Amino acid sequence: MKMTKRIVCAAGMLSVLLYAACADKDSIPATVTFTEHVAPILYSNCTICHRPGGAAHFALVTYEDARKNAGACAYVTRERMMPPWPADPGYTEFVGQRLLSQRDINILDKWAKEGSPEGPKDKLPKLPVYPAGSMVGTPDLRIAVQPYFLPKNSYDKFLLVKVPYELPADTFAALIEFVPGNKNMVHHVNGDLVKYEFDKKKDVFAGERVVNMALDTATIVQAYVRLGLPNDDGSYPVLQKSVVNFLPGASGQKYPEGIGGYTLPRKGAFLLNDLHYGFTNKDDVMDSSYINIFFAKGPPNRPVREFQIGTLSSFGNAPVLPDLIIQPNTIKNVYSRYVLPDDISILTVNPHMHLLGKSFKAYAVQPNGDTIKLISIPRWDFNWQYFYTFKKMVKVPKGSAIIAEGVYDNTRQNLNNPNSPPKLVRDNNGSMKATDEMFQFIVTYLPYQAGDENVSLENK
Ligand code: HEC
Repeated sequence: MKMTKRIVCAAGMLSVLLYAACADKDSIPATVTFTEHVAPILYSNCTICHRPGGAAHFALVTYEDARKNAGACAYVTRERMMPPWPADPGYTEFVGQRLLSQRDINILDKWAKEGSPEGPKDKLPKLPVYPAGSMVGTPDLRIAVQPYFLPKNSYDKFLLVKVPYELPADTFAALIEFVPGNKNMVHHVNGDLVKYEFDKKKDVFAGERVVNMALDTATIVQAYVRLGLPNDDGSYPVLQKSVVNFLPGASGQKYPEGIGGYTLPRKGAFLLNDLHYGFTNKDDVMDSSYINIFFAKGPPNRPVREFQIGTLSSFGNAPVLPDLIIQPNTIKNVYSRYVLPDDISILTVNPHMHLLGKSFKAYAVQPNGDTIKLISIPRWDFNWQYFYTFKKMVKVPKGSAIIAEGVYDNTRQNLNNPNSPPKLVRDNNGSMKATDEMFQFIVTYLPYQAGDENVSLENK
């Protein structure tokens, strides 16, 4: 391949124009510079997180930033650790996937090896403009999450947080967005909506706002009571799952007109299930995150539905098999399987495991035996658990088996193993503690309608 290209390029030298086009596309320039070649790659793929105030601890904006980190950037891109995108693009592709081409990787590599020259200053492209306060636009409503204080030198925290609200009337929302106050402290959030019937709950603001799930030995039900989630008569209100999710670099998913959306009852609360704060270094940190709401004109036409298989499966009939008990110093394979009672159109998928996860794969087997690929994560990364949105809805026919397979590594070779020496680790009633394990595959979908498979879900 390389040889042919060179020959074509050489022939093209007869015509300067043709040569330029050819050289631009695939070959690596003789001298790679920051302003001409490296900055364009960093600005389209990295600075969304690597900029002052971004999700990463260091910026890759100026020549100085990039020069200092040239070797590390070459390494993490060659190993495909950055930009973080654990899903294998050769298996399935998703909206917003961040992937470098082999040429980009080679450019970063050559630049690091050959002294990292700056290049002509006037060639530096403009840094993209990043929206402040929202990745989406101007919200109609903003609800503050109770500010949370993280003292210096503190460890990972997994919090269960209640964000109550009261509105003048039932309201329709197209999109609900979580915005971290301190971008490099908030690792991820998965939030549900607690929907109260107006007369059943006097005061949605009563109760605690935060329960630290890693510290407290509280069961999930005890935690719910402390947060004041039950109705006044002790019964439980309706919980709508996964209405608001956050991971650094991922923006809220806006579906095409008529798909998705939420009804926000007059009285409600967002329940942030595992607001995960990372380590603090030498400074105290105060986090003031908030939730942005973008209103919709009417009620959701085709509300998005969700099921999960594995730990705490939605139907109780798609458990983790054979079980999620992982002996020390072993590799364990598990799976979960669920047969669809109806045709569905899948919008997003979200694989979930904790620190012992090694790989994850999910697919559907149709009644005729054909396979529909859903997602493969060859190298599990606890820090990057996206809700992956398909570029077009994926139709999966009635009678298909949705199968998720996971591999866990409870040996010393797993650098993320929280126990040294390794200890027995198991699921613990859906405990969200990172040191217990989970195996879940969450699918959001619509009942199938003709033509769904042609509907693009790309963000406009
Ligand atoms: C979605 C956000 C995001 C994107 C996009 C991203 N990074 Fe990162 N990167 C991070 C986070 C978070 C870390 C972890 C360290 C931290 O918190 O600063 C990190 C760490 C790194 C590290 C340090 C690795 C280590 O082990 O110390 C390098 C180097 C790096 N990124 C380079 C890049 C490059 C080059 C790109 C683009 C090709 C990129 N990153 C894109 C979020 C991102």
